[in-house]
Amino acid sequence: MSEKPWDGRFAERTDTSVEAFTSSIQIDKRLYPYDIEGSVAHCRMLAKVGVITEDESAALVEGLWRIQRELDQGHFQFDDSLEDIHMHIEARLLQEVGKVARKLHTARSRNDQVALDTRMFLRDATGRIIEGLRALRGVLVALADRHLDVILPGYTHLQRAQPVLLAHHWMAYYEMFTRDAERFGDSLKRTNVMPLGAAALAGTTYPIDRHYTAELLHFPAVAANSMDAVADRDFILEFLAAASICMVHFSRLSEELVIWSSSEFRFIELADAFSTGSSIMPQKKNPDIPELIRGKTGRVFGDLMALLTLMKSLPLAYNRDMQEDKPPLFDAVDTLQGCLDITIKMLPTIKVKPDVMRQSASVGFLNATDLADYLVGRGVPFRNAHSIAGRCVAHALAQGKELHHLTLQELQNFSKVIEADLFDHLTLEHMINRRQSYGGTATENVRAAIAAAGKRLAEE
Ligand code: ARG
Repeated sequence: MSEKPWDGRFAERTDTSVEAFTSSIQIDKRLYPYDIEGSVAHCRMLAKVGVITEDESAALVEGLWRIQRELDQGHFQFDDSLEDIHMHIEARLLQEVGKVARKLHTARSRNDQVALDTRMFLRDATGRIIEGLRALRGVLVALADRHLDVILPGYTHLQRAQPVLLAHHWMAYYEMFTRDAERFGDSLKRTNVMPLGAAALAGTTYPIDRHYTAELLHFPAVAANSMDAVADRDFILEFLAAASICMVHFSRLSEELVIWSSSEFRFIELADAFSTGSSIMPQKKNPDIPELIRGKTGRVFGDLMALLTLMKSLPLAYNRDMQEDKPPLFDAVDTLQGCLDITIKMLPTIKVKPDVMRQSASVGFLNATDLADYLVGRGVPFRNAHSIAGRCVAHALAQGKELHHLTLQELQNFSKVIEADLFDHLTLEHMINRRQSYGGTATENVRAAIAAAGKRLAEE
């Protein structure tokens, strides 16, 4: 048991059960590099404005770096009675540099200190996630480039709808993950605001220079209101919301990989190195990675819900409830980073089966819309054309045939405007390449989208 910074006011020692209950050290110890960097900047600022001397600052800074090395090497002793990382480092500093350590906490509170550490942690984590997303987007663009001639059925309601290029499908995910990266970039702007100097909640009587601290810590902005600076966690909520949306995209991609690798679809095969087997059924090869990503999505949603619920109705300013912000934050960062890393490695190893995809796209009347469009091209209003094509489909179904297997005579029974050139219109390549509307699946469009994405990634 250690002496407490609040000893003066208290007649009794803290009960050990209280120390165990209130301690967060096992969670927040990972903030230590930020806590030390923040304290170093705080010391330098205090010296600059003359609250402590340059010598005192130098001694404190030197001691803080020594503690950083100790923590880096894993030699540091943690103890529940010291509650959190902030008190651990301050207590160790007292042992390292003596009583000058008692000046470190001048013009500062743990309330603004933890807000600072969390913001520094999150801006690094967000930067890494944006980098990871850039790599993932690069993988998707490379896959699209590789699969520019692979045609598969596009689905609505999970029913075969119209043929699309596999490249177009990959590029759809490129778009989703690009928006995710933008969302993280946007939340980063509001995370990157320096709260230190708010002190407990009201600011401080010392002549501190918060803009100097911000400069030392590479923050482009300083929190404008001391109460908001210690009470606000909406920067974490924004991150968790962006992470949740990003996980929705991971989950949808994963779901498709699971479906596509099933015996019913057989569109792809996952590499052995990225699959698992069964302990009982020797034939099994299971898509556990995409399944787990799908499952982990729920964790991240839970992290967002946990923090929303935690923050709801808290009165200003700091409340101890807020210590519970870190488990969901760390969990979401780690989960998302893990999903990113494994997906980046797994996607390029997927074996695509173009013949199976093509065969699926050829069966099930995916060219019915194109029959209608053909009729429209010969002056039939679209609604009538839709009805004629529908009757052709019903006829073909009854014959057990596809539209393109009907004879010209059979088709002409439904419309006199049909001629032999229709059959060209109903081939997969024609269907794909006529969809030249901006954003459509025509090969030219997709090639242009790939080129634009490649250029954008190179510039980011
Ligand atoms: N461990 C605390 C947290 O994570 C640090 C701030 C404590 N402040 C206080 N007034 N008890 O929120």
